[in-house]
Amino acid sequence: MINIAVFVSGRGSNFLALLKNIEKGVLKNCQISVVFSNNPNAKGLEYAENAGIKTIVIPSKNRQDRENYDKEIINALAPYNIDLICLAGYMRIVTSELVQAYKNKIINIHPALLPSFPGLHAQKQALDYGVKVAGCTVHFVDEGMDTGAVILQKTVPVYDNDTEESLSARILEQEHIAYSEAVALYAEGLLKIEGRKVITMDKSK
Ligand code: GRF
Repeated sequence: MINIAVFVSGRGSNFLALLKNIEKGVLKNCQISVVFSNNPNAKGLEYAENAGIKTIVIPSKNRQDRENYDKEIINALAPYNIDLICLAGYMRIVTSELVQAYKNKIINIHPALLPSFPGLHAQKQALDYGVKVAGCTVHFVDEGMDTGAVILQKTVPVYDNDTEESLSARILEQEHIAYSEAVALYAEGLLKIEGRKVITMDKSK
């Protein structure tokens, strides 16, 4: 059984999807031990409280001291024996403090097919570029912005009449599936990082 910390800054739908899949028994061998947020008003915190999951809030407003901020997170997480951190709409760049403290134990979901369209407004970037296929990426987190090794990706079509909203909604549906799949692989110990590549080992071997 692995202990997961989910980091949220807002809506929290990816967190909720993980939680639902754990509750349904679709996602096995893991539990969400704590939800962390840098935003006291994050909707995701409410979902956590309703589900009886512990929450930690360290407001990041007016905090420029990113390293110290991340050290506070590390201290706050220590009692939970966290095996995996899932960034789920966590709108803050993590520093090397956190990345090194949880080396290869932090994953993120991004609403684009990386390495295309990193950073903010990925769906709008894709739409403006005129791509015909979009999607989402679950990846390990390193010191860069959306640059870590890719665990898995899901694609969706882009239609001529798509708006940022319609494309985002189509991608979000796949995000909710992709994140649970990636966490399941991690929880089963089936992911092996070899340089930039994440090898998914065969369960039957
Ligand atoms: C998602 O699109 C995720 O890919 C991105 O931020 C959004 C968070 O949505 N990193 P939610 O808070 O999980 O609903």
